[in-house]
Amino acid sequence: MAFPQVFEDLFSQLDGDNGSALYHITIGEKDAWGQGYGTEATAAAVNWALSHDGVDGVRATIPDWNKPSVRMAEKIGFVMTGTAEDPEVGEVLVYEIGRP
Ligand SMILES: CC(C)(COP(=O)(O)OP(=O)(O)OC[C@H]1O[C@@H](n2cnc3c(N)ncnc32)[C@H](O)[C@@H]1OP(=O)(O)O)[C@@H](O)C(=O)NCCC(=O)NCCS
Repeated sequence: MAFPQVFEDLFSQLDGDNGSALYHITIGEKDAWGQGYGTEATAAAVNWALSHDGVDGVRATIPDWNKPSVRMAEKIGFVMTGTAEDPEVGEVLVYEIGRP
């Protein structure tokens, strides 16, 4: 399998109060899911974000039915810190990771 062509991986909403950046990832080619790309990209992106001044943590909000995302986050070391209400998907689990 070639590297997936459709791949979005980005940060938004750097919270100035607690230095937490919100992370999003979508691999648009479903055939490419489950091969480790998401975990590899997310681990690299988190390390990159945390290497910058002003970024003290990374947050991800995940619906609890999204088991691949939950598994991916936990494998990398994200910890569930609570829940929140997302206007588009309803209740989401809040996962966070800081500097080791
Ligand atoms: C979420 C996403 C980025 C994960 O990327 P990926 O490359 O498929 O993930 P990986 O292969 O690195 O790892 C997925 C893990 O979830 C596990 N998994 C997959 N389906 C699962 C299920 N139904 N239940 C539990 N675990 C599951 C895999 O076994 C793997 O864990 P393992 O390595 O311990 O076996 C990708 O599936 C995607 O783009 N999904 C659509 C968009 C999306 O949901 N984005 C996140 C929004 S919160």
